Amino acid sequence: MVRIFKKNIGFFIWAVGGYGELFRKYPYPIAAEGEGCHAFALGGNVAQGSRLANQSFMWDIITTEFRRHPIKRVADLGSGNAGALISLCKVFPEATGIGIDVSAKAIDDAQRNILRHGLQDRIRLYNQNVLQAVEDPVLQQRFAQADTLMTFIMMHDLFNIEDPIWVLKKLRSTFPNVREFLIADTFISEEQSLSDESPIFVYGFEYVHSLMKIKLFKKSDYENYFAAAGFNIMATHYLNVPNTYLFVLQ
Ligand SMILES: C[S@@+](CC[C@H](N)C(=O)[O-])C[C@H]1O[C@@H](n2cnc3c(N)ncnc32)[C@H](O)[C@@H]1O
Repeated sequence: MVRIFKKNIGFFIWAVGGYGELFRKYPYPIAAEGEGCHAFALGGNVAQGSRLANQSFMWDIITTEFRRHPIKRVADLGSGNAGALISLCKVFPEATGIGIDVSAKAIDDAQRNILRHGLQDRIRLYNQNVLQAVEDPVLQQRFAQADTLMTFIMMHDLFNIEDPIWVLKKLRSTFPNVREFLIADTFISEEQSLSDESPIFVYGFEYVHSLMKIKLFKKSDYENYFAAAGFNIMATHYLNVPNTYLFVLQ
């Protein structure tokens, strides 16, 4: 029991710590109509929970993919508490990282984590919306140096702001030297696949996004968007969490 709890602690922090206040304010989806319920999501807890879930379920698969090529400069879009960048800097002693996150609280936590690991000379963070950051000429120069790009469970957020194919083409042109794009995301479950056995995370993820009016996409939507934006899918890995996959794109 303790082992199961430990493995799932990330989901617990994500749901209760990240969105508990939102549930309290908006017990019924209808109440969220037209109101800014996003303000009640606690970005620091969302980022911390995501990182822990990422570590428990996905990180081994993701680092195996990273180890295929040496990486020097990695960009993490939606970098959360910088756990992924810190971990990569330890695996690749030559690597430097650049992280972008829209949540000021996540960035504060990330700065503290980076200092604690003594990586302040190797990881730079920016508290920005990715879609604004890609228009910033100073940041564009830094992005042009990245050879690897990763983004975990965040692409659906960008696809809700701008047209998905435009977003992907924009990332391609903003990161001209990136050899591999590692994009992990959670999709909407196909109706027939939901059952009483489905892990509660599936319901929580879909409920929170429906409450915040953030559309979730199907796996096949991503595959079509990647193709339309000119990407080749080199590999697809299931990440041990329902409806959650890593795409390796070139
Ligand atoms: C699921 S968390 C992943 C955190 C981290 N990459 C990890 O794997 O642990 C997604 C992160 O994306 C950030 N995010 C969401 N939309 C964003 C946007 N438009 N621009 C920048 N960051 C965003 C959130 O604040 C959150 O920290």
